[in-house]
Amino acid sequence: YIPSPAIASDHDPSSKGFIHCLTKKSIPPWLIHTRSSSSYTSILKSSIRNPKFLNTTASATPLCIVMAKKTSHIQAAVVCGRRHRVRVRARSGGHDYEGLSYRAEDRRERFAVVDLSGMRSVRVDAARGTAWVQSGATLGELYHAIWSSAPRLGFAAGVCPTVGVGGHFSGGGFGMLQRKYGLAVDHVVNATLVDARGGLLGRDAMGEDLFWAIRGGGGGSFGIVASWHIKLVPVPPTVTVFDVVRTPEHGAIDVLTKWQEIAPRLPDDIMVRVIAEPRRVTFEAMYLGTCDELLPLMHHRFPDLAMTRADCNEMTWIESIPYIHLGSNATVADILNRSSISRVNTKNRSDYVRHPIPKSIWKKIFAKLQQLTNFGEVQLFIDPYGAKISRIHESATPFPHREGVLYNIQYITYWSGDANGTLALKWSRDLYKFMEPYGSKNPREAYANYRDLDLGRNKVVNGISSYHHGKVWGEKYFRGNFERLAKVKAKVDPDDYFRNEQSIPPFLALV
Ligand code: FDA
Repeated sequence: YIPSPAIASDHDPSSKGFIHCLTKKSIPPWLIHTRSSSSYTSILKSSIRNPKFLNTTASATPLCIVMAKKTSHIQAAVVCGRRHRVRVRARSGGHDYEGLSYRAEDRRERFAVVDLSGMRSVRVDAARGTAWVQSGATLGELYHAIWSSAPRLGFAAGVCPTVGVGGHFSGGGFGMLQRKYGLAVDHVVNATLVDARGGLLGRDAMGEDLFWAIRGGGGGSFGIVASWHIKLVPVPPTVTVFDVVRTPEHGAIDVLTKWQEIAPRLPDDIMVRVIAEPRRVTFEAMYLGTCDELLPLMHHRFPDLAMTRADCNEMTWIESIPYIHLGSNATVADILNRSSISRVNTKNRSDYVRHPIPKSIWKKIFAKLQQLTNFGEVQLFIDPYGAKISRIHESATPFPHREGVLYNIQYITYWSGDANGTLALKWSRDLYKFMEPYGSKNPREAYANYRDLDLGRNKVVNGISSYHHGKVWGEKYFRGNFERLAKVKAKVDPDDYFRNEQSIPPFLALV
């Protein structure tokens, strides 16, 4: 295994050795940004989405950033990294909620970032209804490329167009098509992976266990996925999007209480999610069809929402992407902008709810949301499950939150100024504690792509992340699939080369 390296500076000979090795392996020097390069800081910060991590003195930063342009660059980084005791972390879109693609909590950690933003081609095969997409592409780039070659096809993945394919697919990936088609990983049919030895593997060479693990087992554990082969999904010529807004004073809590039982049981073609804020609740929906078809359905199944024809916005599926995430004035071209989202300090947590929460509790939740306004802001994104996402067996991929889940809640706390956000963070912890009786239990489940280090972090014992400690956070993300993930890890990376604060630990007896 790689022994825990001593604290080393940029001038450490082995770091020079690492960089020398990279150049000898044909990575051009201009793709390697060391701490002494003038470009280092701006490249490091280029895809940091959460400004609380811009203060780079608080955690370990990479010895260097390799801007990979081709798969052989990723392979070289891994081979040289092992040789010179430098770990590598992949960064695709940089959206990791805990910044683990570019920072390490332990200041002694010696690592390099392999940034994949230069590897972002999308090759669509419209006739077969498939595409190869490189990990550095954003979801916006993927959706745009599909639409350009095959306007009646789409893909079931996240809502935010700036999210990177690499990290997103590694943890599952869900958005407005999740009820109709499930997760992004439910449509991955092949991939190319650089493994812990620097080898390049396709699905056959990986074997089914490793191929299973990379489809939702979390980024940064099994290797670096260079590209994904995906099956595209049909989308109708017209979709209908609506936002119905209610305030807590005018019935929002009643409607939300009913929504919990209705939304997960609606037909597959409709997704009505909820964005709850202290003073308003938005019921945001996408229906795969026209307003004429949608209206009778909503009136019959969800009359309390009192949706009307005036709420309907008909458009194409590709137009719905900017409309939902960036607002009604945004255009399809805007989803190609890799930095379109605003950068604010956030803390994100998540829960899965399997039993409806009583109205009396929702009232208390809103009272709590309203307390935050003095020192921050909050949104709860509540995504209904049911339909396709829940029909797939929970062991089919590492993502286990399937049958019986009513919805996922993402708690987002925002604050400005003080990067520590002391008061906002305390509030966010208190809310999460308050919610404990209402989320799933044994374990209290969480979504791996909404990474939260408060759930637990790895402890390294004798140079290897301990399975025993990993179970604390791992079973929350993966339930019964965690052990299988750890067994795959033991097989393909027993030395724990690909390691971060929440990477899958190898299942080695009694570690
Ligand atoms: P980033 O590059 O930070 O990587 C995340 C993790 O994966 C890191 O551990 C990294 O090392 C690893 N990794 C990256 N590339 C890899 C590769 N090629 N191979 C192996 N490991 C790799 N989720 C969702 O399901 N639906 C949604 O709608 C949204 N929306 C959303 C909006 C915003 C604004 C944010 C910040 C986040 C989301 N998410 C989301 C969560 C998102 O899916 C999650 O943060 C992804 O991991 C982000 O992937 P990136 O490639 O951008 O992250």
